[in-house]
Amino acid sequence: MVCLGNICRSPLAEGILKSKLPINQFIIDSAGTGNYHVGDPPDLRSIKVAKKYGVNISNQKGRQFSETDFDTFDYIYVMDDSNYENVIKLARNEQDIQKVRMILNEIYPKQNYNVPDPYTGGIQGFESTFKMLDEACEEIAKKLLK
Ligand code: 4NP
Repeated sequence: MVCLGNICRSPLAEGILKSKLPINQFIIDSAGTGNYHVGDPPDLRSIKVAKKYGVNISNQKGRQFSETDFDTFDYIYVMDDSNYENVIKLARNEQDIQKVRMILNEIYPKQNYNVPDPYTGGIQGFESTFKMLDEACEEIAKKLLK
């Protein structure tokens, strides 16, 4: 799960997907394309909204996306166009490129909608981010469990 800062959107996506899958069968992680928040916990507003829906993300630590993530993961879900471009810049071959998907395409196929960055807004933005990611992760979990 990849966003820019790895403190608002992708930590939510990581926590939500983990809550829908057996933890010992999947490696689920998140990262940011930027390095501003490496080592930081998620934004308090993400922690709060997740907690409200029974998901604990408070132990996560920010890290930056790196080329080796293409080797570790089968699927790389990005939140928006700019994350997509930044991740694709690090791809080494066509196989890497094929792993990268816009997360909302799981519920709105081929539309390339962005998960808006809630960082500069209020708590309501984090609520709607949670709902979008919950729907998308439900689809992802269904596919992975098939
Ligand atoms: P995120 O939101 O990409 O959803 O984690 C952001 C958080 C922090 C910054 C940018 C986006 N920042 O520039 O510090």
